[in-house]
Amino acid sequence: MDKLIHGRRSIRKYTQEPPPEEWIKKMILAAMRAPSPTHSQPVRFIRILSPALKEELHEAMRRGRENLLQAIAHAASANRLKNWVKAYFRYSEFMFHAPVLFAVGTTATFVSLSERLFRAGMREQGHKKHRDVDIAVGLALKGYLLKGEELGLGSCILTAPLIFIEDPETIFPLKGVEIKCFVTTGYPDEEPDYIKRKDFDEIYREL
Ligand SMILES: Cc1cc2nc3c(=O)[nH]c(=O)nc-3n(C[C@H](O)[C@H](O)[C@H](O)COP(=O)(O)O)c2cc1C
Repeated sequence: MDKLIHGRRSIRKYTQEPPPEEWIKKMILAAMRAPSPTHSQPVRFIRILSPALKEELHEAMRRGRENLLQAIAHAASANRLKNWVKAYFRYSEFMFHAPVLFAVGTTATFVSLSERLFRAGMREQGHKKHRDVDIAVGLALKGYLLKGEELGLGSCILTAPLIFIEDPETIFPLKGVEIKCFVTTGYPDEEPDYIKRKDFDEIYREL
C-alpha cells in the first residue's frame, strides 16, 4: 500500500503503446469499489475514443483560450493573467496525446437531503450541493489511480481544460452527466522530479 501511495505521481507524457484494455477495465472496477453517499454510485467514466469528438473538444479548448486572452487584454494585471492562461493551457493540452482519455462526471440521480431541504424552501441556496458527489469522484479516482500504479500505468487528473471548455456537456452526446474532470492514462514516458509534500504538522490539527 505504501509503495503504491508513495510511488504514484501525475504522469503527463506517455509512450504511444496503448495499455491493455483489460487493465483499463480493472482500473474502472477499482474505482467502482469506492464508497458513495447513500450508495448512490454517481460517478461515470466516459471514454473518449472518437477522433472527431476529440477534435471538437480540442477546438473548443482553443476557442476558449482565445476568448479568454481577448477578454483579459485590458484587465488590470493582464500580463500575469495571460501567463496563467498559457500555463493552464499547457497543463490541459497534453490530454489529447494520451493513449487513454476519460471525461469523469456525475449523474444527477443522487439528491442529498440538504438539496431536498433547499428545494422545499427550507435552506438557503444550496451552494454546497455538489459536496457529496465531488467527494465520490475523488474517492473513485483514487481507486483508479492506485490500481493503475499497481499495473505500471501512469495517469493524470485534469480540471484545467474546464477553464477553457466551460460547458463540456454541450459537446458530449450524453444527457444527465455533469463533467467534473478529465483523466489520462498510459505507459509513463517521464519520471517527474521530486516534489515536497507539506509537513505533517501543517496538515494535522487537534482540537
Ligand atoms: C482535482 C485535480 C485537478 C488537477 N488538474 C490538473 C490539470 O488540469 N492539469 C495537470 O497537468 N495536472 C492536474 N492535476 C495534477 C496535480 O497538478 C498534481 O496532482 C499535483 O501537482 C501533485 O503532483 P503528483 O500528483 O505527481 O503527486 C490535478 C490534480 C487534481 C487532484
